[in-house]
Amino acid sequence: MVASGCGGTGRELAPYVDLEGLDLVTRSITLDPRAGGASPRVVEVPGGIVNAVGLPNPGLEHFLAIELPWLVRAGVRVHVSIAGATLGEYADLARRLSRAPGVAGLEVNVGAPDEVGAGLFEVREAYHAASVVAAVRREFPTDRPVLAKLRPDVSRVVESARSCHEAGASAVTVGNAVPAAMPDGRPGGLSGPAVAPVALRCVAAVTAALPEVPVVACGGVRDLATARMFLDAGAVSVQVGTALLHDPTTLSRLRVQLTPAQEGP
Ligand SMILES: Cc1cc2nc3c(=O)[nH]c(=O)nc-3n(C[C@H](O)[C@H](O)[C@H](O)COP(=O)(O)O)c2cc1C
Repeated sequence: MVASGCGGTGRELAPYVDLEGLDLVTRSITLDPRAGGASPRVVEVPGGIVNAVGLPNPGLEHFLAIELPWLVRAGVRVHVSIAGATLGEYADLARRLSRAPGVAGLEVNVGAPDEVGAGLFEVREAYHAASVVAAVRREFPTDRPVLAKLRPDVSRVVESARSCHEAGASAVTVGNAVPAAMPDGRPGGLSGPAVAPVALRCVAAVTAALPEVPVVACGGVRDLATARMFLDAGAVSVQVGTALLHDPTTLSRLRVQLTPAQEGP
C-alpha cells in the first residue's frame, strides 16, 4: 500500500506505477482545507527525513468532487485517511465518505507525531484512540475496513491496538513517523530507513500479543528485504512512504516481487 501523504493524491505516481488495483492511502483529509506548515517542511537527516508538513490537504468537498473520482477512474483502491479536531468531525468525515462511490476503506490517523500542533483531536491514551475509532465505525459500513493508524510507541502500542480493535477497527497500521524536531526546533516526524527497527519492534509486539488483530506495517519499508522483515513478523501487508519520495518506482518493483509467480499452462 502507499502510505498516507507519500503518494500525493495518486496522480503524481502515475508515470512510475500501474495505478490499476493499487492500494493507496490518501494524505489525511480534514473537513476544511489546510495549507500546512511553514517552510522548510522537510529536511534530510542520516537515515531518513524529518517533516513538518502539517497535513496540507484540499479539504473534504474538493476531495470528493475532484480527487476521488480521478482515482476511481484510474482503478485505484482508495483508502481515505481522515483526521479531525473533534470526535464529531471524525464522525462527519466517515458519514460523508460512506456515501461516496469508490471508497474502499478508511484509515483513521490516531498516531500523528504532533496532534496538538496540528490542531487535531489529541490522542494521549488508548481510550482516546478507541473513541475516535468507535465514532468512525458507527458511521461507516461494516463490510468495508477501518484501519487505525497508531504511533510507533512500543510502551503503548499493544494497548492501543487492543482498544482500537475492540472499538471496531478491522486492522491496525503500525506505525507513523516518530516524533522528532526540525533543526529549528519545530515539532516534526522522523521517517525512512532509520525508523524501520522501531516499527518492527512495535509490529512484533502487536502480532505476538494480539494474533487475532491484522497488522499493516508502516515505517522504513524500502525494498523486498525490509518488506519481508515485517511480513515475517506477522504483518498482513506493508505500506511504503518515504521511499517513494526518494524513488517512486519502489512500489511497482515491490508489487512484482511480492506477487506469487503465476503457474505455467
Ligand atoms: C511528507 C510526509 C507526509 C505525510 N503525511 C501523512 C498524512 O497526511 N497522514 C498520515 O497518517 N501519515 C502521514 N505521513 C506518515 C507516513 O504515512 C508514514 O506513516 C511514515 O512516514 C513512516 O513510514 P515511512 O518510513 O515508510 O515513510 C507522512 C509522511 C511524510 C514523510
